[in-house]
Amino acid sequence: PGSPPLTYADTYRRWQADPERFWLDASAAIDWASPPTRAFDPDAGTYGRWFPDATLNACFNCVDRHVLAGRGEQPAILYDAPVINFAKPITYAELLDEVSCFAAVLRDFGVGKGDRVVIYLPMIPRAHVAMLACARLGAIHSVVFGGFAPAELAARIDDAAPKLILTASCGIEPGRTIPYKPLVDAAIAMARAKPQAVLVWQRPRLQAEMVEGRDHDWEALLEAAEGRGVDCVPVLATDPLYILYTSGTTGKPKGVVRDTGGTLVALAWSMSALYDVHPGEVFFCASDVGWVVGHSYGVYAPLLIGATTICYEGKPVGSPDAGAFWRVAAQYGAAALFTAPTAMRAIRKEDPEGKLFASYDGSKLRALFLAGERADAATVDWLMAATGLPVIDHWWQTETGWCIAGNPLGLGLLPVKPGSAAVPMPGYALTVVDENGRAVAAGTMGMFVVALPLPPGSLPTLWGDEARMRASYLDDHPGFYSTRDAGYVDEDGHVFLLGRTDDIINCAGHRLSTGGMEEVLAAHPDVAECAVIGINDAVKGEVPCGFLVLKAGVARQAAAVAGEAVALVRERIGPVASFKTALVVERLPKTRSGKILRGTMKRIADGEAYAMPATIEDPAALETIAAALAERNG
Ligand code: COA
Ligand code: AMP
Repeated sequence: PGSPPLTYADTYRRWQADPERFWLDASAAIDWASPPTRAFDPDAGTYGRWFPDATLNACFNCVDRHVLAGRGEQPAILYDAPVINFAKPITYAELLDEVSCFAAVLRDFGVGKGDRVVIYLPMIPRAHVAMLACARLGAIHSVVFGGFAPAELAARIDDAAPKLILTASCGIEPGRTIPYKPLVDAAIAMARAKPQAVLVWQRPRLQAEMVEGRDHDWEALLEAAEGRGVDCVPVLATDPLYILYTSGTTGKPKGVVRDTGGTLVALAWSMSALYDVHPGEVFFCASDVGWVVGHSYGVYAPLLIGATTICYEGKPVGSPDAGAFWRVAAQYGAAALFTAPTAMRAIRKEDPEGKLFASYDGSKLRALFLAGERADAATVDWLMAATGLPVIDHWWQTETGWCIAGNPLGLGLLPVKPGSAAVPMPGYALTVVDENGRAVAAGTMGMFVVALPLPPGSLPTLWGDEARMRASYLDDHPGFYSTRDAGYVDEDGHVFLLGRTDDIINCAGHRLSTGGMEEVLAAHPDVAECAVIGINDAVKGEVPCGFLVLKAGVARQAAAVAGEAVALVRERIGPVASFKTALVVERLPKTRSGKILRGTMKRIADGEAYAMPATIEDPAALETIAAALAERNG
């Protein structure tokens, strides 16, 4: 008889007793060029570094080793694009060929260890190939989500200073084709850091125009490189695998750095313990590669363990209907599905009785995982009833790269409490603190902080900005990482998240900075001051809503300025901002010291009861907000 399976409680205790031993044991899942002799160096980096003396290559671990182990004929990626009615599997052997030849193409452009490559691609397997080819060379990729406008792309180009940009001629959304290449051209025109070349994947639906001398046809280069594959370049475990930009509290995005060794160790551990998905099984992560979930569980983790990942270029609804996720999961026999609650709310809206699930064979599906925003209890309850499956809410940040708190299916599911993201994962010692940094009792709301060091896979720093790393996350509560997420822990130790303590909102599972939107609005020539808040939305969770005070003497129609404000946010930040509402008001409610009362404005907008803030300068200002919202709602 084997030893009894480890429970969550045993596992967490084992980690608490000896964190370094725990992660060193977990590191056995990785093929190292030179294995770690120690797990952690407390004196390196901002708060210590994981696996300081080890070397490895991420692409080798995600591709080559599986072919060597006989998985060459197994699909690595299942590409499914319902809008163009196209589907194609890519085996591990085919992936290895394409990745090593594409790495040769990149090397021909001088890309090597430590160089940055910006990737601006839709959900096509070329995105996976591009990321893995960078990793093969030890180059650092930075993927930018396609819904961002040229100015946002330019900001990322300037920060990462890439040698190359990899893009496609277009993205395909239900009902429209989005030309990507003109967005890249515009971004390069704006950026100070000019890339040396742009490689374009031309899609049959739209041929992009090429800039002579700078732009190159990706497919032609790949064909020319056939048979010239390059080997994996070993890097230090502490070398960056990628940079992923995320919203900060200002318009300037934060470049979250992910290191190579710690990331792979944490992802490998989570695939079995948290997701209970194993080599040879199929994992369906519906998140775009432009987000952290797409990086971790759309690309790296499933490939790392020799599972199969699904690359789904479609939507939860509209491609063609609300059964799309269930169709994909059934067709490919997915063991688990991972998406954002917003997608499930969109499905529920169109299929309220959950009938479509039953029309497909979901017998291989063992669980549904939700993250990226608050999973409301009503959606979780509906989903459990519609599918009969465990619905596992888990809490994440781009910064952490993997789950902070969740319900570890692979260690034996704990009771699901709708509305809770369950329990902390090994590596995360969570405390809820009040405004003075004092720990609060169970059931009391505060902000979550994580005792340092953060576990493997979490950010070691921000790209080129150690000072911002400290100021954003470490300075407020010495010895702890500030999550900026508020909530409480119940008597059983289950985590409940209630919202952010800063100006970040989650809209359709996308993280947005309302401060960044305010910066854009403030640049409008007629706007004297403005405030943006996230207001509740039945599908997207929250959507931004802007309030504008016009400069004295501006005699233009309010509707005209509001329309320009909406267009400006779309032009500067992108359609991803979902900024559709701007309301012109006479004044903004403020405290006597001049702070805009955004929290009270939000409660008014959401129709919630609110107390008149004691420090309010002019109580009547709240009425102007309520009146503007009432007028908008008709
Ligand atoms: N490239 C270009 N534009 C994009 C894009 C992309 N990759 N993705 C979205 N957009 C555009 C959309 O077309 C839309 O444009 P519009 O204003 O002209 O309609 C806009 O950005 C807003 O998109 P979104 O917020 O996604 O709304 P939607 O109405 O298109 O779809 C959902 C709503 C719920 C179906 C969709 O948001 C969804 O699938 N969400 C899941 C998100 C997710 O997986 N997040 C990852 C975190 S785990
Ligand atoms: P992102 O960096 O885009 O992954 O967004 C991270 C933020 O999304 C977190 O700081 C939370 O505010 C929110 N979030 C992520 N997962 C959850 C969850 N399961 N429940 C509540 N909020 C979540």
